[in-house]
Amino acid sequence: MKNHTVLELDNIHKVYDLGEVKIPALQGVSLRVAAGEFVAVMGASGSGKSTLMNLVGCLDRPTEGRYLLDGQDVAGLSPAERARIRNRKIGFVFQQFNLLARTSALENVELPMLYADVPAAERHQRARGTLALVGLEGREDHHPSQLSGGQQQRVAIARALINRPSILLADEPTGNLDSRTSAEIMELLERLNREQGLLVVLVTHEADVAAHARRIVLMRDGRILRDLSVLNRHEALEAVHHILDSAAAEAEPSAASE
Ligand SMILES: Nc1ncnc2c1ncn2[C@@H]1O[C@H](COP(=O)(O)OP(=O)(O)OP(=O)(O)O)[C@@H](O)[C@H]1O
Ligand SMILES: [Mg+2]
Repeated sequence: MKNHTVLELDNIHKVYDLGEVKIPALQGVSLRVAAGEFVAVMGASGSGKSTLMNLVGCLDRPTEGRYLLDGQDVAGLSPAERARIRNRKIGFVFQQFNLLARTSALENVELPMLYADVPAAERHQRARGTLALVGLEGREDHHPSQLSGGQQQRVAIARALINRPSILLADEPTGNLDSRTSAEIMELLERLNREQGLLVVLVTHEADVAAHARRIVLMRDGRILRDLSVLNRHEALEAVHHILDSAAAEAEPSAASE
């Protein structure tokens, strides 16, 4: 079953309640993502991208709406139950690599397995294998400060993959990288998607980065404004520019009338 639905969000709302003010960060998001898809989420700052990623990643729960992960309703689960599902199924990558500074690449990658109670020998072996998978063979003993930004992000990707999740969520993974290094990281994610069937959802502000995906979702004000599938990178780049331009054109008249 290659194309079964993995993520199913139904009219999801998320309100941040700050007492005096309530911030409607998501206002009715419905989205289905199938196994093996590669989705780029775009949209202006504050449009709800990270909020959506946190919900999809079971780091947070919706205020309203239904979220099925692999067919299981996770919206109503307790934090501990959500954590268990998260550890098993989902890997996270962030803009800040979030690596432990005084710790080797190998140990950084092993970290999630400590919580999963994996024996030491297997831990080392799997961590080495996963570092090799992301192109970091020979760098196992380097500390983050001894690695380039791109290499640090590779360590973070290896750490995200160590428990063999089927879903990788990346919130602006290239936000701290130059364009050449960004392209390398995106090629790595593309390869993992293609060869391992890893479902990838990534947030980015960069058209060139989004063009590595096969589906572009554009958010505005907590809603999905556009959702477009594409066949290749060339088409993706055109689609990204098209939806950003058309969304901007649509926004202009209402902005002018305000
Ligand atoms: N923990 C929080 N508490 C209160 N409000 C929040 C919280 N997190 C986000 N928000 C608000 O929710 C809205 C959506 O924020 P979110 O972080 O999802 O945006 P984003 O699209 O990821 O933006 P960016 O591109 O800047 O990362 C914003 O108005 C933001 O201020
Ligand atoms: Mg964000």
